[in-house]
Amino acid sequence: MTDNDRDRWDRRYTDRPAPTVEDVALPAVFAPFADVFPTAGRALDLACGPGASAAWLAGRGMTVHGYDVSRVAIARARELARCSGSAERCRFEVADLDDGLPAGEPVDVVLCLRFRDPRLDRAIIERLCPGGLLAISALSEVGGRPGPFAVRRGALTRAFATLDVVAAGEGHGEAWLLARRSPTGAAPDARRGR
Ligand SMILES: C[S@@+](CC[C@H](N)C(=O)[O-])C[C@H]1O[C@@H](n2cnc3c(N)ncnc32)[C@H](O)[C@@H]1O
Repeated sequence: MTDNDRDRWDRRYTDRPAPTVEDVALPAVFAPFADVFPTAGRALDLACGPGASAAWLAGRGMTVHGYDVSRVAIARARELARCSGSAERCRFEVADLDDGLPAGEPVDVVLCLRFRDPRLDRAIIERLCPGGLLAISALSEVGGRPGPFAVRRGALTRAFATLDVVAAGEGHGEAWLLARRSPTGAAPDARRGR
């Protein structure tokens, strides 16, 4: 990512009010599936922004590691975790995901919300433990405008076709997918002849 893009994200967050404990939540599309998310184990939040979803997972009992390119977002995520009483279960770091997924242990949950970089797909799948859950959302052309960051119809489910779909949807300019890696831990490419 260029310094200009990073500065743009920093400015966007600086211009918005910092999130408060009332904002600690999953995005609306995943809220009906809250019970599907574990209450223990490790989670990764990619492009975590100011950390509302990470703090929600940590409040549930998970240990969460969040990455974002924006220093302002990471500072706010740390502060939100502190205010919501889950700082000891959260770690937030500035990282440019254009450089790939930072190395780490397998996790029980990967969140990748309102951020799409297909170059990370394989690493995301491989980072999931057997039975691990992926929650991903992105801008979509379906009910929205085409653009460099909008995915085509069905793109998320195709990209993660080796996972078992728990739920998925597309509309109003947003695509989202909740899917699990096989509980047997079969290597994604070895399943279903892929
Ligand atoms: C639309 S926001 C979503 C934030 C958060 N996931 C949420 O749902 O509130 C997109 C986020 O992606 C981050 N981002 C964009 N490009 C990135 C990159 N190359 N590496 C890491 N983070 C990036 C931005 O800083 C921003 O926080």
